[in-house]
Amino acid sequence: MWIFAHRGASGHAPENTLKAISLAMDMQCDGIEIDVHECDGQLIVIHNRWLNSTTNGQGIIHQHSFAHLRSLDAGLGEKIPTLREVLTCVKGRCMVNIEVKSWLTERLVLAEMDYAVQSLGFSDQQLILSSFNHHILHAAKQQRPQTLIGALTSCIPLHYAHFAQELQAFSVNCDIDFINQAMVDDAHQRGLKVLVYTANELDDIESMAKLGVDGVFTNYPTRAMSRLAHK
Ligand code: G3P
Ligand code: CA
Repeated sequence: MWIFAHRGASGHAPENTLKAISLAMDMQCDGIEIDVHECDGQLIVIHNRWLNSTTNGQGIIHQHSFAHLRSLDAGLGEKIPTLREVLTCVKGRCMVNIEVKSWLTERLVLAEMDYAVQSLGFSDQQLILSSFNHHILHAAKQQRPQTLIGALTSCIPLHYAHFAQELQAFSVNCDIDFINQAMVDDAHQRGLKVLVYTANELDDIESMAKLGVDGVFTNYPTRAMSRLAHK
């Protein structure tokens, strides 16, 4: 079961910062998960559009310039990183699940994925593009067919496998509260990986391993890895 550091190793360092990403690298995670917004044509790594939830800023992302956002403190003196900075920090050493959080031009993120493959040592199999916004995923797959698509679900639609198929998805990224054996088995029969968010407690890690899911997103990667190692 792959261990993805959720927003980097966010249980140990400020989420979605280079510090959290570096820590996840040190922990030898299989992958990291990050959240991406767009500002002034730049892709920035931050979870919420409300700045006061993770930085010392106020208001929402789109009320500010890129330069202002870069001047903010995202925790312990860390800056809000760009997607390019995160990919450069990882340099193909593990998978990266890039979650697109708002409407943006998919070309922007696809260009970064191309750069990562051409210049940063990533393979296409290490980069997953995910979003609750399936329109962006669909457009991305049309434009760059080799893109691995992680179809994020918060609710469980009646025909979840249908939209995953339509997106030519690599994985369904599911809420831990709604995952069950039937879903995992069905997804696997359709050739889909199952990635589950967010598994922080040891009981959750264990039950996800028992269900046979392919990966979990966790804020505490070492906790998850040590539990799996002792099984
Ligand atoms: O990508 C999985 C998970 O991160 C989605 O929810 O709110 O933590 O971004 P959230
Ligand atoms: Ca996320």
